[in-house]
Amino acid sequence: MSNTASTPDAPPRLTVIGTGYLGATHAICMAVLGFEVLGVDVDPQKVARLNAGDVPFFEPGLPEMLSKALDSGRLRFTTSFAEAGAFGDVHFLCVGTPQKAGSQAADLTYVLSAASEFATHLDRRCLVVGKSTVPVGTAGELTRLIQAHAPAGTGVEVAWNPEFLREGFAVDDTMNPDRLVFGVASDWAEQRLRDAFAPVLAQGTPVVVTDLATAELVKVAANAFLATKISYINAMAEVCEATGADVHDLADALAFDNRIGGRFLRPGLGFGGGCLPKDIRAFAHRAEELGVGQAVAFLREVDAINRRRRARTVDLVRELVGGDLDGVRVAALGAAFKPNSDDIRDAPALDVASTLHTLGARVRMFDPVALDNARRAHPELSYAGSALEAARDADVVVLLTEWAEFREIDPEAMAAVVAQRRLVDGRHALDPAQWRAAGWEYRALGRPS
Ligand SMILES: NC(=O)c1ccc[n+]([C@@H]2O[C@H](COP(=O)([O-])OP(=O)(O)OC[C@H]3O[C@@H](n4cnc5c(N)ncnc54)[C@H](O)[C@@H]3O)[C@@H](O)[C@H]2O)c1
Repeated sequence: MSNTASTPDAPPRLTVIGTGYLGATHAICMAVLGFEVLGVDVDPQKVARLNAGDVPFFEPGLPEMLSKALDSGRLRFTTSFAEAGAFGDVHFLCVGTPQKAGSQAADLTYVLSAASEFATHLDRRCLVVGKSTVPVGTAGELTRLIQAHAPAGTGVEVAWNPEFLREGFAVDDTMNPDRLVFGVASDWAEQRLRDAFAPVLAQGTPVVVTDLATAELVKVAANAFLATKISYINAMAEVCEATGADVHDLADALAFDNRIGGRFLRPGLGFGGGCLPKDIRAFAHRAEELGVGQAVAFLREVDAINRRRRARTVDLVRELVGGDLDGVRVAALGAAFKPNSDDIRDAPALDVASTLHTLGARVRMFDPVALDNARRAHPELSYAGSALEAARDADVVVLLTEWAEFREIDPEAMAAVVAQRRLVDGRHALDPAQWRAAGWEYRALGRPS
């Protein structure tokens, strides 16, 4: 790797600013696709681990891709913005945009500080491409900020390329995305993006080229739609609970309608993680700022339905043990916000487990990969090395994250270790007939008991 500018016809050299779940995956995959890539992060430990071939989070397939990328000599990580400015032609901005403390808005501190500091090192024509999920209008603000700080001034352009990868499938989603969205302000920016994604476009990946604001909106609109679909079926679950109907069968029947489709129509404990909850809140907040709050006011209800599922799961556990949680031994299966991830940001599983603990239950939790993160965030809970160990002497078992290994638990084997055969299936992941046949009292949200 050298630090001099690449020649005009050579593939652009890429930097990735912010190497968390999104940025590390993007940097690694782009290097495997043949680009020279420099990842930049303010966290020196993260940088050291990535340079040593150690992915700092769980993502299937990514460690193998990191080894491949490092072996190729095309990938490196640094904490130096100066080095990144000198190195890159196209700079991907992938820093976090969490929910602002005490507000529903997105916290843009990381994006703004990364952009203004990095810009001071941009002394030649280049493209800064936002990938973080941001409120509409941010790209315009960043353009002004970066051009004001960069020695190259208006020679630095901003584009937006929202990211749709799913944790757990991040490698495949990056190498073979459903579509690419390029929000650009000039033909030059579009061409630079086409160069930076040439191997992906060569596979026939559809690309939508649009303006900056639309590109920013595509991401939040997609997440709002997905969250709405999940809360829609969970709203139906609430109605089912009041009528004795079965939301599982209802969802199956709806899914046969091609106009509706079965994906994201699984009832249960609802969504969490570092994206959907904060993205729909930030979207509603931004729409209110723009005077169109009414248009997406339903997102507040989507959020409320989702939060009620957590409270209702706690209620179901309480009902199943006879109304009092004090001293009740609960085996909690799952901590991550979804399977195949160790991400516990706004994880429904941990929310439910910690509420049960607050209400007096003795919670013992197991998760195949998220235990370290869970232990750090919730030292008050106890943790076990396996699902069966968590279930030993339990008065009730609660399935909170639908890991494949939990679906494969033998009801007889688990029956042999628990104190009481009581099960709350928070994810509609298990076969009630099989568990009931083994003597279990099986309960799930929106299903008759
Ligand atoms: N995680 C996902 O599945 C996913 C999917 C699509 C979009 N996104 C969006 O991508 C963005 C990043 O999400 P994430 O999950 O990767 O977050 P993350 O917290 O895992 O990673 C953010 C990284 O940015 C680094 N950082 C913070 N300030 C910096 C600075 N000034 N300069 C350089 N690095 C800095 C942090 O140290 C961290 O490593 C968010 O806007 C998120 O909404 C995430």
